[in-house]
Amino acid sequence: MFLRSLQRFSAAVFSALRRGLFGCGKWIQARPRLAAWLYKTGSADADYREFNGWYFAHFNEQEKMLADRPRMDFYHAAVARHVHPGDRVIDLGTGTGILAVFAAKQGAAKVYAIDHSEILKHARRLAAHNKIEHVEFIATHSRDFVTTERVDVILHEQMGDFLFDEAMVPNVIDLRDRLLKPGGQIVPALFEFFCEPVKVKDDRHIPFIWELNVHGYDYSCLERSRPQDPQYYQHASCDLDVIEHCLGQPEPALKVDLQTLREADLPRELHLKRTVIHAGRLDGFAVYFRALVDGDLSLSSSPLDRGRAPHWGFRILRTEATTYAQGDVIEFTLTVEQWAKPDTWRWHQQKI
Ligand SMILES: C[S@@+](CC[C@H](N)C(=O)[O-])C[C@H]1O[C@@H](n2cnc3c(N)ncnc32)[C@H](O)[C@@H]1O
Repeated sequence: MFLRSLQRFSAAVFSALRRGLFGCGKWIQARPRLAAWLYKTGSADADYREFNGWYFAHFNEQEKMLADRPRMDFYHAAVARHVHPGDRVIDLGTGTGILAVFAAKQGAAKVYAIDHSEILKHARRLAAHNKIEHVEFIATHSRDFVTTERVDVILHEQMGDFLFDEAMVPNVIDLRDRLLKPGGQIVPALFEFFCEPVKVKDDRHIPFIWELNVHGYDYSCLERSRPQDPQYYQHASCDLDVIEHCLGQPEPALKVDLQTLREADLPRELHLKRTVIHAGRLDGFAVYFRALVDGDLSLSSSPLDRGRAPHWGFRILRTEATTYAQGDVIEFTLTVEQWAKPDTWRWHQQKI
């Protein structure tokens, strides 16, 4: 009897506590400045460092990247061409050490293999097991890495699904400006960023809820309750069967060359125009990238490319369905507050 009352009492206390905490959480989230201070969100850099620390520490992320054949073949060929015997090399974000090892096998005199994630302890063990020499593993964030000599080559694989969302630009530029010899190489350095209008296959297309009418049941009134969460407007996928076609002829929306880029050069607004060659419904803009080395080696995350590197996802920046006829022109504007934070990207399209 006593036990049952105690049980009921504790259930009531926990339930009140849970309701209280939930209410308190909502109250804090409604005050963005307080929320930012309490949850320590804010700069893309701080968020990225924290996320990275645990994300890449696990084998399952590393194994997806290592099993990605187009990715590994691209890097193997690029390192073979650009690392020469006697070179000094930095491998920014070495992970399991694979790019550092490619460089060592090319005869590099010294490879600084740096990573801020716990994965580094496994990288050290792997190199010892494989009897790799001339690679020094350094557990640090690249911004804190210093050496007395400049290097000939900086290797990196810092591309996110949105290209810029793993802080590739600031991290590579920082090392380039501090530690790359004049005339030294960044591999890879050239990138093309795409934002292409696409039609999703009818059986895969998920409209916004307010666009739906299910057997006569009309959802249009929910348009007034559009979610505020930016992620609601982005669809993430790795599935090549999602997209039916691009409405226009794909062209890079932006090209960057890390050898020369300054962060301030990145535009805050992109304007694209595409003349429709495949008529049909526009469901959104597919975001993907291509990395290029020497003009003939390339690594693609395009959902339309069968030879793409499979472990990268691509994103669709969703738009309300609009039907386009052949010859129509789609005008698209992407406004970016921070390239490394796709939640700050906003877009709109119109027919002209
Ligand atoms: C995409 S993985 C690539 C791993 C490896 N280079 C490869 O090609 O398999 C990126 C790695 O970089 C590390 N990383 C990212 N930013 C870094 C930074 N600024 N300083 C040090 N390590 C970083 C992550 O912890 C992660 O292990």
